[in-house]
Amino acid sequence: MLMKDKSVVITGAGSGIGAFTAKVFSAEGANISLLDIDEAGINAGYDSIIKAGGAVLKQKIDITNRDDVFKAGSAAINKFGKIDVWINCAGISIIVPFLDCTEDIWDKTLSVNLKGMYLGCQCAVTHMLKNGGGSIINFSSQSGKKGGARYQAYCASKAGVIGLTQSVAVEFAQQNIRVNAICPGVVKTPMWDRQIDDYAKKRKLKPSEVMPYFCKTIPMGRVCEYSEVSDLVLYLAGDRASYITGQAINLTGGSLMS
Ligand SMILES: NC(=O)c1ccc[n+]([C@@H]2O[C@H](COP(=O)([O-])OP(=O)(O)OC[C@H]3O[C@@H](n4cnc5c(N)ncnc54)[C@H](O)[C@@H]3O)[C@@H](O)[C@H]2O)c1
Repeated sequence: MLMKDKSVVITGAGSGIGAFTAKVFSAEGANISLLDIDEAGINAGYDSIIKAGGAVLKQKIDITNRDDVFKAGSAAINKFGKIDVWINCAGISIIVPFLDCTEDIWDKTLSVNLKGMYLGCQCAVTHMLKNGGGSIINFSSQSGKKGGARYQAYCASKAGVIGLTQSVAVEFAQQNIRVNAICPGVVKTPMWDRQIDDYAKKRKLKPSEVMPYFCKTIPMGRVCEYSEVSDLVLYLAGDRASYITGQAINLTGGSLMS
């Protein structure tokens, strides 16, 4: 068990990568705090972890709200005594032609994807400093390293996540807090189910042609599996990654190489 008795907080745990990662960490022995704005999502994760015999806490929060985030951090401390790992996974993605990108879309995307990670990092660091260290993992994206048409707000937010990650990593490197970002390519989650029509329009494809299009353009010829994401999160969370901090690691099947 790679995470035995570790206290692990996961934002965006109600769906997709966050929900899958929570179950993997629980199976590895971690005590899990599930945070998400989607109550039904965390209820389902909670039930499934309890059924499997795991220890779990759920908190409905808006990641953009400082009080919500810090209250959730305190709840994790009250229940599990410490926070060893904080995974900032909550995010939103809207594909829209640049000239139709409203201030609302811009503000919401930057708020959830970047401010939410800033608040998560600040809460995690506050507790980790009292606990002698920890590991923070922030979800950026390949879109944080390479711009994309109709994707300005998302790309800007995910590039910001890399800047945030590097800066927090440097400031707390000597306090044994490691901070890294993961930059996935395409993982077929509910996020993709919601945006596939807009992506299809951007490429002048049918929605059914989008995933095959990715498979053609990704060097490894396929999209990323959930387990390939959670394996990297597990590695970065654990002691085997003890000399890795401030990195933004590509998980793109070869699509990005720098
Ligand atoms: N799926 C991909 O291909 C892909 C690729 C690169 C990066 N990512 C990133 O990985 C992360 C997870 O993505 P996913 O594909 O699993 O998406 P998802 O939509 O399945 O899950 C995202 C979760 O974030 C939650 N969330 C949104 N706004 C919130 C808020 N204000 N407060 C709290 N929770 C909130 C949602 O309720 C949802 O449960 C995101 O940060 C995403 O940008 C995903």
